[in-house]
Amino acid sequence: MWNPDIYLRFADERGRPFHDLVARIAADDPREVVDLGCGPGNLTETLAARWPGARVRGLDSSAEMIEKAKTQGGSVATQGGSVATQGGSVAYEVADVRDYVPGPDVDVITTNAVLQWVPGHEQLLTAWAAALRSGAWLALQVPGNQDAPAHLALRELCGSPRWADRLGELDDQVRRVPDATGYARLLRDAGCDVDAWETEYLHQLPVGGPEHPVLTWLSGTALRPVRALLDDAGWDEFRAGLQPALERAYPPYAGIVDFPFRRVFATARKR
Ligand SMILES: C[S@@+](CC[C@H](N)C(=O)[O-])C[C@H]1O[C@@H](n2cnc3c(N)ncnc32)[C@H](O)[C@@H]1O
Repeated sequence: MWNPDIYLRFADERGRPFHDLVARIAADDPREVVDLGCGPGNLTETLAARWPGARVRGLDSSAEMIEKAKTQGGSVATQGGSVATQGGSVAYEVADVRDYVPGPDVDVITTNAVLQWVPGHEQLLTAWAAALRSGAWLALQVPGNQDAPAHLALRELCGSPRWADRLGELDDQVRRVPDATGYARLLRDAGCDVDAWETEYLHQLPVGGPEHPVLTWLSGTALRPVRALLDDAGWDEFRAGLQPALERAYPPYAGIVDFPFRRVFATARKR
């Protein structure tokens, strides 16, 4: 289960890659814009503001996220289930991206920080690109930090004797995403002109209490599968066990924890 409020604790840091991605989409007057895995909708709304003439849709498999999107500040629910925003209108739906097929009016697809959760998403990208009309855009961003110290520490703890029987299988679920070259080749093969790149952001997280800020960060995303498998006491114990490794890997400097975070981007325009 996704918790929108925990996820949004770092809304600024999590939002920046979306804005960097969308800045590279050169669509002028799209008819339909779809945000796949839209989460709490705070970023989807910016698509409606950028393209006020477009029909903007946000799809997400989490009912909690869609509920949050529909009640975001500044949005007003309308009768048809769509949500009016300042710049236009966004229609939110609970849906799995694996079932998504672009309709004939779709001119822009965005999917930000989602596909790392979807095994075999490369085939989905190929299918979406095949269904798009000439000139339409497909833009994606995925975290590429599976080998960062935070994730190594997480995997090591899951595989330790204390947790292996309950959490050992999570190690196999680490999603290896392609790098920029991998996405560029895949999308060129699917008939697109591609711009692909990688960025390492430096998130500067203030130390604000007993919990290490990287632990707080992970709780909103990478630790979700752990949370799903543990009861409350186990969850507290697991987090307490992870904290020392994070303190060693990311020591604070003058009250700030510097947290490098690599992300992989691609925008593709159908030829
Ligand atoms: C890290 S959040 C990103 C949310 C938003 N795109 C953003 O950038 O803030 C990942 C989102 O992907 C959604 N998600 C994961 N797998 C999905 C799937 N198979 N179909 C639809 N949504 C999915 C989750 O429910 C979650 O809201």
